[in-house]
Amino acid sequence: MMTPLADMIPRRRSVRKYTGEAVSGSDLETIQSFCANATPLFPEIQVQAKIVQKEQVRFYLPWKTPQLLAIFSENKPGFLENVGFIFQQVDLFLQSMGLGSCWLGLGKLRDVGVDVEGMEFVILMAFGHTNEPLRGDISQFQRKSPQEIADIPDRRLEPARLAPSSTNSQPWYFTHEGDKIHVYQNEAGLLRHKMLGKMNQIDIGIALAQLYAANPNSFRFQQTDGPALKNHRYCGTITL
Ligand SMILES: Cc1cc2nc3c(=O)[nH]c(=O)nc-3n(C[C@H](O)[C@H](O)[C@H](O)COP(=O)(O)O)c2cc1C
Repeated sequence: MMTPLADMIPRRRSVRKYTGEAVSGSDLETIQSFCANATPLFPEIQVQAKIVQKEQVRFYLPWKTPQLLAIFSENKPGFLENVGFIFQQVDLFLQSMGLGSCWLGLGKLRDVGVDVEGMEFVILMAFGHTNEPLRGDISQFQRKSPQEIADIPDRRLEPARLAPSSTNSQPWYFTHEGDKIHVYQNEAGLLRHKMLGKMNQIDIGIALAQLYAANPNSFRFQQTDGPALKNHRYCGTITL
């Protein structure tokens, strides 16, 4: 029995311990079809996910996941946010299936011919059977406070506040203008961290995905000329 994606927001966690049992073929089909049908942030950018075996991936931790998702995308403006947006829906979906999952920025594909023509490899997501329980309540999250992520603390931003991010960096910041909310990526200190800069763009898409999952009918995203904010990159404007 599947749970609505929004119900997974306060319960999901990054799972790094797997039983090693392979996910069944019919579940893999369900996952691939969810990936293909998830809502994009930028519909004009083509994205593709391939299920790859552990042996096709080089990563630095001895995780037991037998298979992973390798995520590919066309390289167009906004593609990293788009990948974050689509595959955070997948992360919530995997956990609603009772599987564990974890974004894996530190993994690389071995050169084993899993390329997708016209697209570049972006990132991996580990998934599989686990004995790790979901989170019981919000006190189990280590996150910034509502005051730290927005000009005005706003309960509607809770799904974004709880979102996962690379090294738990939580690079998002929100400002209000009437019923519009401007979305920014905190860039302070990023000059020294090129890798984190790329990951942080994915993180912004992830936070937006959680806002979308919580407000699937009313969520709107557009890019206009958002007001400039020091040490921040304007990413777009949403209404919820
Ligand atoms: C884009 C991205 C890349 C990540 N890469 C890794 C990784 O390489 N290794 C890892 O152990 N965790 C990775 N994580 C998981 C984060 O460390 C985790 O989301 C964060 O610490 C918050 O914990 P939670 O997801 O359990 O709420 C990544 C997360 C994101 C969003």
